[in-house]
Amino acid sequence: MDIILVDNYRELSENAAAIVADEVNRRQTPVLGLATGSTPEGMYAQLIKKFQKKKVDFSNSITFNLDEYAGLSPEHPQSYHYYMYRNFFDHINIKPRNINIPYCEDQDIDDACREYDRKIIEAGGIDLQILGIGINGHIGFNEPGEYLYTGTHLVDLTEETIDANSRFFNSREDVPQQAITMGVGSIMHAEKILVMACGKNKARAIQLMCCGKVTTKLPASLLQLHRSVTLLADREAASLL
Ligand code: GLP
Repeated sequence: MDIILVDNYRELSENAAAIVADEVNRRQTPVLGLATGSTPEGMYAQLIKKFQKKKVDFSNSITFNLDEYAGLSPEHPQSYHYYMYRNFFDHINIKPRNINIPYCEDQDIDDACREYDRKIIEAGGIDLQILGIGINGHIGFNEPGEYLYTGTHLVDLTEETIDANSRFFNSREDVPQQAITMGVGSIMHAEKILVMACGKNKARAIQLMCCGKVTTKLPASLLQLHRSVTLLADREAASLL
């Protein structure tokens, strides 16, 4: 695992945007796996700036988002659909048909999940997967547990995740209890993975991700088995390494 240490959030965002832009510029049809959460917000802002300066062109990019809350409409301000359009897609030249975000309102959930996996395979797999990390070591919404799923699936969110994400909602009761997430198989099949982490509250998860046992009880630890992972972290998140 390569580790890039940065001093602050701005540097984290600039470095991540540079890695994504390089990947997009050197491929004919770049396939990006995208993450939400507070950590990558600055990266999206930097990518928009690069796009405006004509340093990157998303016209041939295909994107697959990691996850979405179950039961929130795409118009809900806390849905990941809303987040992605507001923070990124509305400001770049990606083709709408090339944007993929898990969603299943009008469909059987298993069918929707299988279709999502099929689309990832059809696109040739993910070239660069961006990941954040939950304080409990989750990636996407693959929560710690006795077992993990390889494909896209419906997941019950843990109490820890509901607590952590309640900061985005009016109250804890408003946080959905389930989500649809890409499975660890799709993530692990990505050619390259970029994990972004900032802040002291991620230090323990980052320590276990890099140096702990490989275990389903800390899904990010599986990344130790991947051949091309870059961790981009500030000094606080990396303080226990
Ligand atoms: C959510 C998302 C993850 C994200 C994590 C960390 O639960 N499903 O994809 O990595 O939170 O979010 P943040 O960057 O806000 O700490």
